[in-house]
Amino acid sequence: MISFKNEIAKAIAEVTNLDVEELKTYIEIPPNSDLGDYAFPCFKLAKALKKSPQIIAIEIKDNIKLDENIIEKIEVIGGYLNIYINKTTLAKNVLKEISEKQELYGSSNIGQGKNAVIEYSSPNIAKPFHIGHLRTTVIGGALYKIYKFIGYNVIGINYLGDWGLQFGKVLAGMELWKDEYDFEKDKIQSLLNVYVRFCKEEKENEKLTDLARSYFKKLEEKDAECLKVWEWIRNVSIDNYNKTYKLLNCNFDEYRGEAYYNDKMEAIVKELDEKGLLKDSQGAKIVDLEQYNMPPCIIITSAGTTIYATRDITAFIDRAKSFNFEKMIYVVGGEQKLHFEQFFKVLELMGYGEYVKKATHVSFGLVVDKTGEKIGTRKGNSVFLEDILNESIQKVEKIIDEKNPNLEDKQEVARKVGVGAIIFNDLANSRIKDEIFDWDTILNFQGETRTLYSIHICTHKKFNRKSRIYT
Ligand code: ARG
Repeated sequence: MISFKNEIAKAIAEVTNLDVEELKTYIEIPPNSDLGDYAFPCFKLAKALKKSPQIIAIEIKDNIKLDENIIEKIEVIGGYLNIYINKTTLAKNVLKEISEKQELYGSSNIGQGKNAVIEYSSPNIAKPFHIGHLRTTVIGGALYKIYKFIGYNVIGINYLGDWGLQFGKVLAGMELWKDEYDFEKDKIQSLLNVYVRFCKEEKENEKLTDLARSYFKKLEEKDAECLKVWEWIRNVSIDNYNKTYKLLNCNFDEYRGEAYYNDKMEAIVKELDEKGLLKDSQGAKIVDLEQYNMPPCIIITSAGTTIYATRDITAFIDRAKSFNFEKMIYVVGGEQKLHFEQFFKVLELMGYGEYVKKATHVSFGLVVDKTGEKIGTRKGNSVFLEDILNESIQKVEKIIDEKNPNLEDKQEVARKVGVGAIIFNDLANSRIKDEIFDWDTILNFQGETRTLYSIHICTHKKFNRKSRIYT
């Protein structure tokens, strides 16, 4: 592949007598392509050449020897040279490289010898694995594959929400209503029903919240019976998630959830205390972040229990020590932005700033319906991710039946297209914006749209323009 940057720098070096390597470092990509494919700011040359940037730009443009196969045209705007490269040469080069490298096109080894930890999906056990977790799972799954492709040693972590007050709620509910649900038969559905019912009833009955707290406290105190039920709930839930992960072809190297840090938090709380960061506040222990314009980060609640942030701080330090990561990527919704800012700041104050610099919160918008309402929350009903994937597969099966009933491997194609269309809808959406979940767009067969694209990706079969489907 020719390096356009190199060629541009060489041509400029000829007219300015400056060093090619140095010139290369000045070349920029303009903020939008109307301003060219590359831009060369002449400001830095002004001192050496003792002329104004604009004059330098004009002189370079007038004197440069242009190979039209490489540079199509150059324009001067202010002290900038805007450079337009030859698109035919670019296309030829790219196609040649693709045909040589095949599936390895775009890969590199820039991550060689470096660890990238990617934490994604991370559903909350006992709560539904619903459409809200679609984006973290899809975006995280894509990042996992991309980082592998550029040579990193990737560690995919599913930071399951397997600890917290929600277990207190489910444990209390299971005990209160044990005769009303069949936990052996409809395991996951019963657990969910108990959780949803508990959340609803506690709104009118504060005593239930106290009861949930006491159950969670028992769990934190390692009550054997509670721990046994907790483990059962965890296993049932993971089995259920795995069905969805299999459909989405997601990989995790570790299912290391919040509970894993239970016996590691004490040392971290001690460390925070020794570093003089803990303050008492209304019976809780907090790190004051007022001077950073943030609310305090609660470490121990007034009930004496640890909290989400305590576990995140502990998990971060543990990962830094065990993986010595070059990148620590959290794929988590934008709703938790403040939480990440808070606990990153606490870690910085603890002296882990070098690691915090390597951490990124990859945030994303909500999944909403056409009217802009968050999906799945309206009637307290949850839309399960697995059901959505299956619904998509069924819808594609129907479309194939209408358009191309004799298609071979109909079910296999429907599975790939149905799941592919959901993934594509997510990744084609701007990450930060809310994603509109609308079946008509997702499964639109008109034009070169998402479904067609995913069929192409998934089947590598031939496209029949008349029936508008790949065969
Ligand atoms: N379990 C959390 C949720 O579903 C997401 C976990 C995000 N990751 C983290 N390190 N806090 O809301």
